[in-house]
Amino acid sequence: MEIPKTLIEKLKSAKSIIFFTGAGISAESGIETFRGKGGLWNKMSAQELASFDGFMKNPDLVWEWYQYRRKIVRETNPNAGHKTIADFEKHFDEVTVVTQNVDNLHKRAGSSSILELHGNIERNYCMDCKTFYGVEKFLESEEVPKCEKCGGMIRPDVVWFGEVLPQDIFAEAERKAAESDICFIVGTSAVVYPAAYIPIAAKRGGSVLVEINIEPTEITNQTDYSIKGKSGEVLPEIFKMLKEIT
Ligand code: OAD
Ligand code: ZN
Repeated sequence: MEIPKTLIEKLKSAKSIIFFTGAGISAESGIETFRGKGGLWNKMSAQELASFDGFMKNPDLVWEWYQYRRKIVRETNPNAGHKTIADFEKHFDEVTVVTQNVDNLHKRAGSSSILELHGNIERNYCMDCKTFYGVEKFLESEEVPKCEKCGGMIRPDVVWFGEVLPQDIFAEAERKAAESDICFIVGTSAVVYPAAYIPIAAKRGGSVLVEINIEPTEITNQTDYSIKGKSGEVLPEIFKMLKEIT
């Protein structure tokens, strides 16, 4: 793994950093990614399991799948990648995590400013009255639970294919990206829009784009630096080099 010295110099003078993260950052925690080798969407149907129509067609199946994923998430822990991102807050005025992940691992690693573009698997809400419920509430439910207030169907608070992203969060992410000095793009295939506009917004705003991924992606040729490697190894190395010169 080769970390360019010029990147460390740029980091030294940077004030505002944004991390745009995807499933790859949680891979070393043991959570499968969606695409690429061993990816979930190679063996499971996104249409069936992660779309509104899929849920309406077979709510209990989709519910069961999310309960299963929640169990996996609960049994895993943040890895060195998540932890290093949280550590960046000690060195910079402003660090924002914009994540496509729903696994809550950035929060558990200690990051304080997180914008979740695709929701959070550890929350549910009622489709009718929009009451929110924490994940513990229906931990044991094997079928779609009913809302205590109105009897409506409960669903996970995640963004499914074909659904609109939370607009206020997306707008805030775009703004932070455009204002950032450096934008790290970590563990994402950068093919799912509108999320993948975030690094583009950063670039338009003059930010330096730094990709960390084990393989090239759709965005690689637009980045200023592309570092090949695992995020749980590359990020701690960058942080170490940064500390050595500051
Ligand atoms: P993907 O599964 O599409 O991409 C994961 C990326 O992580 C790939 O580019 C891998 O090369 C890379 N990767 C794997 N292990 C890594 C490691 N240890 N270190 C660094 N990189 C690694 O995941 P996303 O880009 O997050 O949407 O997918 C975007 C969206 O598609 C998800 O949020 C989800 C999915 O369907 C919704 O649920 C709406
Ligand atoms: Zn309700």
